[in-house]
Amino acid sequence: MRTLVIDHPLVSHKLTTLRDVRTDSPTFRRLADELVTLLAYEATRNVRVETVEVDTPLMRTTGVRLARPIPLVVPVLRAGLGMLDGMTRLLPTAEVGFLGIVRDEGSLVASTYATRMPDDLSGREVFVLDPMLATGGTLVAAIELMRSRGASSVTALCLLAAPEGLARVDEAFGDDDNCPITIVCAGLDERLDERGYITPGLGDAGDRLYGVV
Ligand code: URA
Repeated sequence: MRTLVIDHPLVSHKLTTLRDVRTDSPTFRRLADELVTLLAYEATRNVRVETVEVDTPLMRTTGVRLARPIPLVVPVLRAGLGMLDGMTRLLPTAEVGFLGIVRDEGSLVASTYATRMPDDLSGREVFVLDPMLATGGTLVAAIELMRSRGASSVTALCLLAAPEGLARVDEAFGDDDNCPITIVCAGLDERLDERGYITPGLGDAGDRLYGVV
């Protein structure tokens, strides 16, 4: 597994405002959206392309386009939805699947309640959107599903990660040449608290995006 913590002043600036308890939902949504576009730039650095010929007004030359099959973007409901527009802004031709995973706030065990994705992901590069990599339970369940359907790689975009979550994903998948796993995040925090929240963190990402249900 490869971990990429994006070190960029604009990313740090936006993340700091996301953390701020005084940031309201409309501002939180806008900043999360902008932040994901910056993460997406790095997360797609190795996306597969194929060579094409293109006619400029002056001459024929060689360029590239995204290779087939096109990448699949999968936001994990609910909070991952707040990352979808920021991702598809850079990858507008990607297909979008949906995955509903909820964690029990007592046991912290993740369970899948909705899946809307192609059955066959053979050769597909999959980008999973999940803002908080906390215990890692949700991401491990998501990656297991993508791998079982044949994904060729899984890249997770997270706003924040905890060391415990990164360790759990690494333990589950390690280095697998058949389906390399990459985690791209805007920040790596100190640890989880006793409720499984990332600290210092930003609180409950779903609630901050959409309000308390
Ligand atoms: N989910 C969140 O929304 N926040 C955390 O800190 C951990 C999990």
